[in-house]
Amino acid sequence: MEFSKVIDARYSCRSYLDKEIEDEKIQKILETGRLAPTAKNTQCQKIYVLKDKELIQKIESMKGMFNAPVALIVCGDRERECKRFFTKQSLMETDLSIITTYMMLEATNQGLGSCWVCYFNEAQTKELLGMPENIDPYNILLLGYPDENGTPSPRHFERRDLTDTIIEM
Ligand SMILES: Cc1cc2nc3c(=O)[nH]c(=O)nc-3n(C[C@H](O)[C@H](O)[C@H](O)COP(=O)(O)O)c2cc1C
Repeated sequence: MEFSKVIDARYSCRSYLDKEIEDEKIQKILETGRLAPTAKNTQCQKIYVLKDKELIQKIESMKGMFNAPVALIVCGDRERECKRFFTKQSLMETDLSIITTYMMLEATNQGLGSCWVCYFNEAQTKELLGMPENIDPYNILLLGYPDENGTPSPRHFERRDLTDTIIEM
């Protein structure tokens, strides 16, 4: 799909069909995430690919994860963490958000719906999936085919005007 069409087509899908996603599509999404830039190229990500709906619904979150058939749990490896030079603040969340964004856009490109979820219990998810101590979950990307209720929410259409957010100097 043309890039601008991908941007136009993407929205947060919160209702999915009971339909499996083809493995090639999931692989392509993961491959796109692999190519995302990270600070100092540290590639701090570990991505848990959940294809078991019952397991996905065990994650303490909102509305049973909208019945999504696949959830990518985007985690950071503290042993690969890069920090800002001056403030020493972590760049982990930035890196993982770029990776999540790449995968979200590739999902649209593959004709899938997606929803980025941060409203979940990180500690419970870490324990549920048996993550090692140095691995922390940050973002969840839900994937699936939208059902008839999986349309954009009114909020999708509320975008601030450029003049509100841009300062030209
Ligand atoms: C960092 C981040 C966290 C989000 N967390 C959630 C979430 O926990 N639950 C949810 O339903 N949507 C979540 N969203 C989706 C946003 O609500 C959504 O992107 C926003 O309202 C704009 O709508 P749109 O994606 O349809 O354009 C999140 C999005 C981002 C970028």
